[in-house]
Amino acid sequence: MKRQLIHLALAAMAVFTVSCSETSRNAETTGSEETEKRIEALLSRMTLEEKAGQMTQITLDVLTTGESPYVSDEPVLLDTSVLREAFVTYKIGSVLNTANNRARDRQTWNRLIGEIQNYALENSRLQIPVLYGLDMIHGASYVDGATLFPQQIGLAATWNPALAERAGEITAYESRAVGCPWTFSPVLDLGMDPRWPRQWETFGEDPLLGALMGEALIKGLQGKENSLDDPNRIAACLKHYLGYSSPVSGKDRTPAHLPMHVIREYHLPAFKKAIETGAMSVMVNSGEINGLPVHASHALITGLLKEELGFSGLVVTDWQDIEFLHTRHRIAASHKEAVKIAVNAGIDMSMVPYNFNFAAYVVELVKEGEISTERIDDAVRRILRLKFRLGLFERPVTAMSSYPEFASGSFAADARRTALESITLLKNENKTLPLPAGARILIAGPAADRMRPMLGGWSYSWQGNLADESTAEYATIARAMRELSASPANIRVYEGVSYDDSGDFSAEIKGDLQKITALARQSDYVVLCLGENSYCEIPGNITELELSSNQKELVRAAASSGKPVILVMVQGRPRIIREVEPMAQAILNAYLPGNYGGEAIARILYGETNPSGKLPYTYPRFAYSIEPYYHKYTENLQNIGAPEGSAFNPQYPFGFGLSYSEFAYSGLSADGKTYTPDATIRIRVNVQNNSGKAGMEVVQAYVSDLYATLTPPVKRLRAFTKIMLQPGEMRTVTLEIPLWDLAFTDHSNASRLENGEFTLSVGGQEVGFSVEGAE
Ligand code: BGC
Repeated sequence: MKRQLIHLALAAMAVFTVSCSETSRNAETTGSEETEKRIEALLSRMTLEEKAGQMTQITLDVLTTGESPYVSDEPVLLDTSVLREAFVTYKIGSVLNTANNRARDRQTWNRLIGEIQNYALENSRLQIPVLYGLDMIHGASYVDGATLFPQQIGLAATWNPALAERAGEITAYESRAVGCPWTFSPVLDLGMDPRWPRQWETFGEDPLLGALMGEALIKGLQGKENSLDDPNRIAACLKHYLGYSSPVSGKDRTPAHLPMHVIREYHLPAFKKAIETGAMSVMVNSGEINGLPVHASHALITGLLKEELGFSGLVVTDWQDIEFLHTRHRIAASHKEAVKIAVNAGIDMSMVPYNFNFAAYVVELVKEGEISTERIDDAVRRILRLKFRLGLFERPVTAMSSYPEFASGSFAADARRTALESITLLKNENKTLPLPAGARILIAGPAADRMRPMLGGWSYSWQGNLADESTAEYATIARAMRELSASPANIRVYEGVSYDDSGDFSAEIKGDLQKITALARQSDYVVLCLGENSYCEIPGNITELELSSNQKELVRAAASSGKPVILVMVQGRPRIIREVEPMAQAILNAYLPGNYGGEAIARILYGETNPSGKLPYTYPRFAYSIEPYYHKYTENLQNIGAPEGSAFNPQYPFGFGLSYSEFAYSGLSADGKTYTPDATIRIRVNVQNNSGKAGMEVVQAYVSDLYATLTPPVKRLRAFTKIMLQPGEMRTVTLEIPLWDLAFTDHSNASRLENGEFTLSVGGQEVGFSVEGAE
């Protein structure tokens, strides 16, 4: 019988323990002794109404003149009567968001946030600064002219945490420049289901890759030492805690059924790592798990997050989610009851965001004894802690002139490099790529000559639909190809089909497709830029994962010319391309590469840069076969009469990505044959570049637990590194895996390491080892 070791840190009952949050705080999220004293001093002077106000967050639209709630007047103006209501009557503590107007420039943002801040300070009794928060998701995404990076899924595809850290640093700088000290980023949800419309906001399907990229992004945002009062840094907000990305239906904000041990094994690690790193705020999952909306879950918010993980930062709701406990989830018979449930579950701030009811209900509920003063004080302490740590009391506003690097050339170079390292070469039959410099190329497809699909949602506006208005200076794929071509006149652009797919191929569309075939015949190559237009959240729900039928027709039309076809997939999630994949000689996955995506794609197509991105998710072949690479062995049953595709057989595996170089692995070894639980496995493997091109390779180490008391996944990524190898260069790479990382979470929610046999695999090589002494 196997011997087992149970890790006490994640002991079974921890989720259900009673309150002890002030004794088990995580050092990184707590303030210094002096900060804690200032918090207590201020808290002791606050009235109940002032405390309830601090817990209230409203959207900018409420404060501006114009057709609220979705658009503001231009130029944007604050409505003084509402300002008075917000800051004098209700004493609110936080504002978020933008209106669905065209993105505002940096001066406008800086002025706007500054005016709100000054109004609040001048008109409130205790001069507590306002905390402004924005979804600065891939750069200062609502600011015209800011440096925009690839979306998180692209960052993950770089497998290069240093790039994520730099992206965070630049985002922080440009956000503070406009006066915004708080971003609702990173997204640490596990992006394992491409049906879910927010997969592109995640770091993909792997818990380790997600945790390490998240850690790096947070260090960039908050500073390596969490120097949040540094005027170049901002506070991160981890979202969406917890289990948001796995709704059964694949549709946003619909129910999930997740056992706790699965949550802890796969969904929790990135959040845990981020809290250890010092992330100062957490946003809650809008969905429900096992019938309980997370906003109502005392076990998850207070039990697991605040007590077990010792998180002493701020917990904010997602958009309108307390009210939705009443109107959508129907677990509360009134909005007021919803407030009681959520605050008692551990919510510190409500993203209300359209009215002041929340503040009024909190006051009533405390007076009625339904919410304790201790709970309110805990919430307000956390809010004040963040405001003090951000230095907002000392420096409530920023001056644009202190940020000369805003949108600098060096920031652009970092965003460009990130896009270049993200793009993933999935197919390159007969070395079709790189393309000859002067070739005649037809560029077609809906992403050929537009920036919007390259940016995705959270770009200049929520849905990214206004992106083309703010991006004239950036190169689309077509423009970048022309700029790099040795004979620009040889580049022809014809869109062919749009994203709208009625399924009805009218004469007009047929004519377009015939034209594509004709133009393709006159070209040496056809580059088809396909995928998805921008979307975000519920509007991004789909009922079909296949690439749209008109885009598939476009591939057929191009391929019928007999010329080599190259697909460039610009997409938030991997759309199924099984039917048309054989018609393409080369395929690039570009994800949502941002403002420098066109340049990056063109450089890779022409071979000026060697691709080095690797898939951060499993690219499915069939819509009904969506399993991550860490699926169970039973999802692999091939030879018992199952139809094609029913066994795990993705289009491309997780971690896959080609290069123009050829890398060979040899000599994999571990430094032992048998390990005890407190040991660390030291791995060595040789990687050689057997080509004449310098290139980067991601060395990935997977471990399989061959037998376990809970069915083991076929393998898990346990370590990786990205290296650059010159032509002919050989390097011995070393990686380390602490044995405890091989533990799994059992049914009692304990982390369990078992004795037995394991296999380590790196670059197609395998060695075995065993674990002993686990008891
Ligand atoms: C989204 C969050 C976002 C928030 C504020 C919500 O609808 O789910 O991810 O941070 O809005 O904009």
